[in-house]
Amino acid sequence: MPKNQSNEVPKTDFLQTIEAPVNIQQMIKASCYDCHSNNTNYPWYGRVRPFAWLLQQHIDEGKDELNFSTFQEYSGRMQREKIRSMISQISDGKMPLKEYLWMHPEAELTNDEKEQLIKYLEKLNP
Ligand code: HEC
Repeated sequence: MPKNQSNEVPKTDFLQTIEAPVNIQQMIKASCYDCHSNNTNYPWYGRVRPFAWLLQQHIDEGKDELNFSTFQEYSGRMQREKIRSMISQISDGKMPLKEYLWMHPEAELTNDEKEQLIKYLEKLNP
């Protein structure tokens, strides 16, 4: 299975271009980048079927909806839509995906972290 990995941080990367504060970057990287970027930090179960397939499916579908690595390639309107959608997914507790959190408790956002993230995203003025 080809891996979703890249050593480069592209110029079109969301966190890179918006110059987010370090704590915001860490939250989004830890909680969202595995499925929504061109660089997955593969866990041990990434070598174990059927978990590996499930993860790959999440990456494929997740990137289809939102790819942080190529965020700047979206039109301005699309970027605003994606940011609004991030806010609602986070506040509804839909993202990060529940199945993922079973294996990645470190990706779970506390209420306080969710609040910080949402506030930050709202400031981007979507
Ligand atoms: C385990 C993989 C995974 C993780 C981790 C993950 N997502 Fe997703 N995300 C998906 C998948 C799969 C979809 C598409 C299917 C769906 O909506 O359930 C998606 C869809 C989305 C969408 C588009 C929803 C829409 O229809 O508008 C947004 C926005 C999003 N995710 C934001 C986030 C944010 C923000 C985080 C981190 C806080 C995150 N995701 C973490 C897999 C993931």
